[in-house]
Amino acid sequence: MGEPLLRPLGLLAELTHRCPLGCPYCSNPIALESRADELDTATWARVFAEAADLGVLQVHLSGGEPTARRDIVEITEAAHRASLYTNLITSAVGLTEKKLAALARAGLDHVQISMQDADAISADRIAGYDGAYARKNAIAREVVQLGIPLTVNAVIHRANIDRIGTMVEQAVALGASRVEIAHVQYYGWALANRAKLMPTRQQVERAVGCVEALRQRYHSIIVIDAVLPDYFARYPKPCLGGWGRRSLNVSPSGKVLPCHAAETIPGLEFWSVREHSLADIWRSSPAFNAFRGTEWMKEPCASCPRRLQDFGGCRCQALALTGDARATDPVCHLSPHHVLVAELAEQRDDAPYIYRRNRADRTTAAEMAKVG
Ligand code: SF4
Ligand code: FES
Repeated sequence: MGEPLLRPLGLLAELTHRCPLGCPYCSNPIALESRADELDTATWARVFAEAADLGVLQVHLSGGEPTARRDIVEITEAAHRASLYTNLITSAVGLTEKKLAALARAGLDHVQISMQDADAISADRIAGYDGAYARKNAIAREVVQLGIPLTVNAVIHRANIDRIGTMVEQAVALGASRVEIAHVQYYGWALANRAKLMPTRQQVERAVGCVEALRQRYHSIIVIDAVLPDYFARYPKPCLGGWGRRSLNVSPSGKVLPCHAAETIPGLEFWSVREHSLADIWRSSPAFNAFRGTEWMKEPCASCPRRLQDFGGCRCQALALTGDARATDPVCHLSPHHVLVAELAEQRDDAPYIYRRNRADRTTAAEMAKVG
């Protein structure tokens, strides 16, 4: 018998897939949703109210770049009214000081800004956007000035892993309360750029030592969150705390997904908030029920004592690397496919990145500022 249905705690609201940046590790799907299909303000407000009724405590306002939405202040207000803790996950490019102040007045509780590198030229090259580094730093300072807690999300890969120390120092100097050392996870655009982003084993080992030293140095000054990157770990991560257990993602057009990469799994049926309530989707949608519990598991997971700890790892990664979403995540050293992960971790390609682009709908920072 499976565990009783838990309540979701977090909702990732992907308000739009539009974004001025082109980060090559973006976890958005390769087939980005268009502006014409985006949910309107009233529907997001309904979704937030339903989420709160369902037990959700925290909403992550994300994208793409969530502030590319003209109604981001109204959306934030609606989430706040629903008594959700609101976290804005932003690139900060295109976000103006004026808009940020309006968001603060609307009840924004927390801001997370992604940083590409400690070096401005490298950071702008990774983001595929000139001036992104300077803009991010300016907005990060403004967030702290407004008294909103700030997390710096340092996205780590081969080009910047040797500068983790400086990135953390910069986060401290900005007044961030938390820094997340977020090693790239290979989904979406990152999967397409895997060999261009993959660090070497020596780099990863140095980074682990560096994070340990930083934690001691900045103990009680900043929280440093870091996990070992997937392809170099012995056991997989319990992806999102287990499929359909604690969180849900709503795509810009209203599809509700158990995780951001779930649409890569063939045969899953996703329900939309346009036709169903969030509670109905959480309880009954075929996609959410596909990998709940342990009955779907194959060996070695099916009889493994860790199966309720890591839930067999990540379904999307199992699919991407083995072609079978029910397989053990091959990051696990017990997987018969584990050797493949070691081989892929060795592959490198120094050709230019494939930047994330949605040309038809490309929103530039200048356009965003006009409405800011
Ligand atoms: Fe986790 Fe499956 Fe590996 Fe066991 S075999 S540790 S359940 S991924
Ligand atoms: Fe889909 Fe891990 S990203 S289950």
